[in-house]
Amino acid sequence: MATKNAQDSKLVKPPVEFDAMVSPEQLLLNAEEAPKITDRLNLFPFDWRVETPRLMEIYNDSRDPGWSPAQLPWHELDVESMTLDQRYAIAYWFALLSVFDASGPAVFARAMIHAYETHEEDAIRKCFFSVTRDEMNHEEVCGKAITLLTPNGPLGYEPETELGKLARNNIQWLYHNGARYWNGYKRAVEMYPMGILFSSFLFGEVASSTLFHSMYQNTTIPVFKEAFRNIGRDEGRHLSFCLALLKEVLPKMSEEEKMTVTKQFRAGFIFLSGILYEPPAEFWHLPPTFLPAQRMLEEVARTAGFGILTLEERRANWRTAVVRLKTIVEPHGVKFPALPEIDVDGEDVAFDADKIVPIF
Ligand SMILES: [Fe+2]
Ligand SMILES: [Fe+2]
Repeated sequence: MATKNAQDSKLVKPPVEFDAMVSPEQLLLNAEEAPKITDRLNLFPFDWRVETPRLMEIYNDSRDPGWSPAQLPWHELDVESMTLDQRYAIAYWFALLSVFDASGPAVFARAMIHAYETHEEDAIRKCFFSVTRDEMNHEEVCGKAITLLTPNGPLGYEPETELGKLARNNIQWLYHNGARYWNGYKRAVEMYPMGILFSSFLFGEVASSTLFHSMYQNTTIPVFKEAFRNIGRDEGRHLSFCLALLKEVLPKMSEEEKMTVTKQFRAGFIFLSGILYEPPAEFWHLPPTFLPAQRMLEEVARTAGFGILTLEERRANWRTAVVRLKTIVEPHGVKFPALPEIDVDGEDVAFDADKIVPIF
């Protein structure tokens, strides 16, 4: 007993002590309402409503993506058997891809936070989370390929050949443009309602699923072929997310919002052409050496079995993807922009480099 009393004396008293138990009824009579949360962008209060059950279904199917970049057969990549220029050329392509795919985790994480702040339904928050996780895998593939082929690359590697030096210069320019994109995106994501954001993401997902499908078909190097197959499947799922939401949202959009979507499609085309086709000068600030160097690098990558399509094939591929997008949105009264670069008719719309949203 003596020990127990000693322990009791050490106990700290609770901050508030009540004389007697009160009834719930009495408490309720005196209950005060909590202050209203009036900040425009705040995570609180929470709810878990689901307005688009299809989104939740796709999210559930995405919980196990079915692959892991760490478990791809990287050990089979025979770097030693490649020439230096072949290594530089393949690493170059992954650096180009990283402008789109390695920015993916941050882009979608930002969209996810925004979805919390604007109190979107639970299914939208969850689908952004799922895409963020997938993009982290795609980013990992970019990093793994680049660092295996050019240790500390892309910019911390010292190339030994002229083509390698040109590749590094090109990458510096690509990242300069990627940084401009990111500055615009951060502002744009807060400006647009979810329907417009999803329309823009839709363009990115159409582009990425098309790109990885073609890269999978044309690449003969096993680890890259396997990576493209898996990334392509993820991108197809992102496309399904976008379609599931837009099916609900597009019919309810105002004419003004639809016009914004048209403009965003033009912006998306210009930005994504940087990898799907060739970078248009309307957004891409690049020096005159950029394109000739890139074409040489692509040619060398092909000699190693890396499946970059030829310019003509890319043009046809990009056109097919865009026409597919056009047939999805036009029945909802969304006009398509003119894309004379790939021979697609449509509305002439202005382009604003500071408001680009689309991403892989
Ligand atoms: Fe994606
Ligand atoms: Fe991706």
